[in-house]
Amino acid sequence: MRHVIGNWKMNGGEALLREFASGLPGECPWPDVRLGLAVPAPLLGAAVRMLPDWVRVGAQNVHWEEAGAFTGEISPALLREVGCRFAIAGHSERRALFGEDDAAAVRRLSGALRSGLTGILCVGESRREREAGRAEDVVERQLRGLADAGEPLDLETGAEALIAYEPVWAIGSGEAARPDQIAAMHEHIGRLSLRFFGTVLPVLYGGSVSGDNAAEIFALNSAAGALVGSASLDVRGLINIASEASRIA
Ligand code: 13P
Repeated sequence: MRHVIGNWKMNGGEALLREFASGLPGECPWPDVRLGLAVPAPLLGAAVRMLPDWVRVGAQNVHWEEAGAFTGEISPALLREVGCRFAIAGHSERRALFGEDDAAAVRRLSGALRSGLTGILCVGESRREREAGRAEDVVERQLRGLADAGEPLDLETGAEALIAYEPVWAIGSGEAARPDQIAAMHEHIGRLSLRFFGTVLPVLYGGSVSGDNAAEIFALNSAAGALVGSASLDVRGLINIASEASRIA
């Protein structure tokens, strides 16, 4: 099973959702691929109504409490209520531009999982960290936060935790990381998740994934899927990537 998850970031509107819905088949054409789309929060309800059921709608961020005095935040309970099935936590843009740290990312992931949402924790190093030879340490620190939080990865609710390796330097650059770089980091994450959580969590890759490079990414045994930014703004782009994921499953 591979996951192909689009992330519209702060883009799109109802017109794009309509175009998207009209470009998708009524039934899932790939039994071995799960397609998801993370849209901006005000579009979540419309996305659930307008997209076919087999497309999982998700949020780009989530709070850890079910309700309370947290202006501007979105509770996992509310996400469930509008029909969301997953939430992203710790995206590098949240970390770099909005001051979210490892602890917040981990709490957000835990909030999603407790509520029965699939949680996707994003990890990844900056260019400077890679050039300094610190990429593996940075990712270890980001995952250790989850291990140290003392909150068990409570997957008994039927929730599912995924890790997305998104090297910051590859995001929006038009140039994905090389397959050998992705494979090495995926293996590192696999070893760490076994050590920290006693299980090998599925690891996606994100950063300039497109129809052109999807095949070589999915050819890596370690890639459980892809988190796709700009290519997901075009329904055909996401369909091409999902078709590659299925072809190489
Ligand atoms: P791009 O595919 O636009 O590089 O974005 C990747 C990303 O950040 C997905 O979460």
